[in-house]
Amino acid sequence: MGFKHVALIMDGNGRWAKAQNKVRTFGHLQGSEKVREIAIAANDLGIEVLTLYAFSTENWKRPKDEVDYLMALPDVFFKKFLKELMEKNIRIQTIGELEAFPDSTRNVLLRAIEQTSNNTGMILCFAMNYGGQREIFLAAQHYHQAILDGIISKDITLSEFEQFLMTKDYPAVDLCIRTSGEMRLSNFLLWQLAYAELVFEPCAWPDLTADHFKEIVLDAQKRDRRFGGL
Ligand code: FPP
Repeated sequence: MGFKHVALIMDGNGRWAKAQNKVRTFGHLQGSEKVREIAIAANDLGIEVLTLYAFSTENWKRPKDEVDYLMALPDVFFKKFLKELMEKNIRIQTIGELEAFPDSTRNVLLRAIEQTSNNTGMILCFAMNYGGQREIFLAAQHYHQAILDGIISKDITLSEFEQFLMTKDYPAVDLCIRTSGEMRLSNFLLWQLAYAELVFEPCAWPDLTADHFKEIVLDAQKRDRRFGGL
């Protein structure tokens, strides 16, 4: 069966730029162009949700000029590509705590979400100021509050608890791809990756091609997924 939800850790922008004597931010710019190409490829494959790790709760620790650049990137990206995303019927959404972003960044994201909200094709979800542990922690807090408010019972099922996660409207993640050779999850979708297939791809994010991405997805789809059964 075709994968419904694919997650991407877009790693290696900095190293990719350094390898050609460019500043790290040039790697991020190239990385954002790659988002367009891979999103279109995922849409072609009929994937329902593509979730991208665009800014983690830990990325605030980077030098200020790099953080500032990443804050400005959504504006550059949507100015260039929103029209095309509309034509492809792609819908933009986010997970993560947008409140922490400068107003300008948050407004750009909210505008893109709003402008694409009637599109019915693939959801392109940007994880921004997102961390998996924090997501589960917030879900537990909201669950606790819902019990105190008397709107939910203590005896809920796992799938009812999932309604407190930021991905509540999405199908389970089928596949997570991390580029650039690192074999870590780095706090991405910790709950949602419980049964996901994992692919650690050696090439840097800016070097991933649409064809290669499609090949990775189609190959992983052939794997025998038993979800703990036989
Ligand atoms: C990791 O590479 C990448 C990031 C922290 C940022 C990813 C963001 C993009 C690809 C652009 C997102 C686009 C929009 C529109 C928001 P790294 O910098 O850690 O690379 P390195 O490990 O080689 O240093």
